[in-house]
Amino acid sequence: MDANAYKNNVGVFDSGVGGISILHALAQELPRESFVFFGDSANAPYGEKSPSEVLELSRGITERLLGMGCKAIVIACNTATSAAAEHLRAQYPSIPIIGVEPALKPAALSEQGHHGRVLVMATPMTVRLDKFQSLKRRWGKEAEVVSVPCTGLAARIEQGNLDAPDMYELIESLVGEYAGKVDAVVLGCTHYPFVRKQIQSIVGNVPFYDGAKGTARQLRRRLVECGCLEERCKQGAIRFLSSVNSKEELDLYGRFLKMAESI
Ligand code: DGL
Repeated sequence: MDANAYKNNVGVFDSGVGGISILHALAQELPRESFVFFGDSANAPYGEKSPSEVLELSRGITERLLGMGCKAIVIACNTATSAAAEHLRAQYPSIPIIGVEPALKPAALSEQGHHGRVLVMATPMTVRLDKFQSLKRRWGKEAEVVSVPCTGLAARIEQGNLDAPDMYELIESLVGEYAGKVDAVVLGCTHYPFVRKQIQSIVGNVPFYDGAKGTARQLRRRLVECGCLEERCKQGAIRFLSSVNSKEELDLYGRFLKMAESI
């Protein structure tokens, strides 16, 4: 691969299509930047692997993106952020590496002191690891936090066909017991915003939170800090790469980006 193929791009990655929900927010916030998105769909789901496997996969993708000339990395995956962000920052101290975490803070605080009950949906690994556990300790003082490891949901979203009956059945089996019993929902996996409407139809019409906009603002801050914000280009490009290297897969990513406009 050409060392300059994606020179000055922001490299964005996830285990698969989920990170496209973040990619969309990044491109909205920073339309002059060019982005290359790598979906590791051949290895999805990350959330049901071990942290060391996810660290090695994340390291490999980061090396590849930097090797193609990227100036910053966005880990558009809560799971990979928990397992790999600190290690990658230590390995590449001069590169802005931005992660995403469950948006528990705005969800807990927005209950305006009435200490609501917040449902956090995330992958089994995200729920288990320290990063989320310490967020939960911190914001669990402001609201009652119920976290649910949603085994199988990211893998099912990877398959597309998001309105099929089995999608609703899966969501019902994961969080149906909380229907009408929570005040807010945090989507702690970047795949889940693509089924926000389906989750809402089961859990109830409460406010939903995800980390996309916060991640986009953080990327802007970091690019400004390192003096590498794109200011000349009028309109950046968005390009896709995948570990499932087929036209169908890349077309699927394009369809998810289109879908991200309306979620
Ligand atoms: N989209 C990812 C996240 O935000 C991971 C989903 C998966 O591969 O399990 O956690």
